[in-house]
Amino acid sequence: MEFSVQSGIPGTQPSPCIVAGVFERRKLSAAAKAVDRATDGALTALLKRGDMDGERGQTLWLHHLPGTVAERVLLVGLGKEKEFGEAPFREATAAMTRALLQSGAERVHNTLTELPVKGRDLPWKAFQTVLAVEDGLYRFDEFRTGKKRPRPALKQMILEAGDEDQVAPGERAVARARATAAGMGLTRDLANRPGNVCTPVHLAEEAKALKKASKDLKLEVLDEEAMEKEGMGALLAVGRGSEQPPRFIILQHRGGDKGDKPVVLVGKGITFDSGGISLKPGEAMDEMKYDMGGAAAVLGVMKACAELQLPMNVVGVIAAAENMPDGRATRPGDIIKTLSGQTVEILNTDAEGRLVLCDALTYVERLEPAAVVDMATLTGACIIALGHQASAVLGNDTTLVQELLSAGQETLDRAWELPLWDEYQEQLKSNFADMANIGGRPAGTITAACFLSRFTRKYKWAHLDIAGVAWKSGKEKGATGRPVPLVMQFLFNRLGD
Ligand code: BES
Ligand code: MN
Ligand code: ZN
Repeated sequence: MEFSVQSGIPGTQPSPCIVAGVFERRKLSAAAKAVDRATDGALTALLKRGDMDGERGQTLWLHHLPGTVAERVLLVGLGKEKEFGEAPFREATAAMTRALLQSGAERVHNTLTELPVKGRDLPWKAFQTVLAVEDGLYRFDEFRTGKKRPRPALKQMILEAGDEDQVAPGERAVARARATAAGMGLTRDLANRPGNVCTPVHLAEEAKALKKASKDLKLEVLDEEAMEKEGMGALLAVGRGSEQPPRFIILQHRGGDKGDKPVVLVGKGITFDSGGISLKPGEAMDEMKYDMGGAAAVLGVMKACAELQLPMNVVGVIAAAENMPDGRATRPGDIIKTLSGQTVEILNTDAEGRLVLCDALTYVERLEPAAVVDMATLTGACIIALGHQASAVLGNDTTLVQELLSAGQETLDRAWELPLWDEYQEQLKSNFADMANIGGRPAGTITAACFLSRFTRKYKWAHLDIAGVAWKSGKEKGATGRPVPLVMQFLFNRLGD
């Protein structure tokens, strides 16, 4: 899919398809007015007949309009003009996308991007539009034999800038959004792949494929033997119950100066979480193939960084293992030694994410990170607390947490902070080891982060619990590609522009 940014008066150049907005009630946007003028008042006449009111989410296709300005026009309802803001803009763009994808339109001139949205500029609108369209275009057909679903005809979209001097910033936003969307596509593919295909070794292979495609990337993969030598007792304990060997993946994007400290992204890569000996109930257990959503997001971000040749050092680190019950699996009550030297009593083998992450978080000390952000489908409790709207963010550095919150707000891939107060640490007390791996039912997301905080004392760190946002259940079951937009925006903001 191709996107470009243009400024011109819509309705003056002929186009195969023009998308224009209509406010409630029957109030034409500036672009719609221009089309109306170029078609001898055809829009006004149609609206008068009552075919469209301008309610949010409405769409209306118009064919055979007088004049030669457009082969077809798509009118999109914007709701009340006074209330037009971020949410109605997103809704209108989503409605446009749905209508376009069901049509035969190949090349489209989208004028919704010139509508004023309070507090948001053209680059923001362009970024949102590209992500919305790419989201609509996404298909996961890898495992369907026979007839694949037909691809939509849509190939090219021109985004109306409204103002000539917005064209260049708009184009840059488009480039960033396209890379972000490509990263999200990879993240979704990986999380949608089943556990029998997407194994720890598969994640390492995918990292290798990324490295091959970019000269800025450098890759190191540790196998079990190397992890043994390092002393990654926690990661190894989780992997032990599976026939699939674990992997530890370090993928470096070297876009910045040599001496620049890297931003380190750590991903939970449990390629299937059965719960282990503390076996999960059967219902919806299939969905636990997305328990590598954090790892998938890390790879998605690395892909986007490489595509953009982002002038920054970013390291992606993935702790990949499969959590299965087996004769060699860890038992409840087992005590293991982590890479940090601290010991953990494993009271519940289903709290495995924090175990693979703690060794990764110790390992990354040696990278002298500017900041470390881990992302993980860590707790069901996070879905109870925040639903599927927001990632939970917790960390040991207020500025870093703020950066992530703002990046989420900017992209609408939002996060919400939970407290990491010392008082919660008590819940992790063990009678037999330095700590237990669970803290009981109250504040499950917080105590999981408390556990991680014991391994991140040497650097600025924040944790994103993405259990709710990375996956959709129900009819549209599948991976979402979140939190790739949030993390990309966080990196863009760190570039200082
Ligand atoms: N991967 C799960 C968390 C999860 C649950 C993610 C549902 C997405 C949807 C994690 O490994 C887990 O099992 N956590 C336990 C922790 C508990 C044993 C302390 C949980 O949330 O129940
Ligand atoms: Mn688990
Ligand atoms: Zn898990």
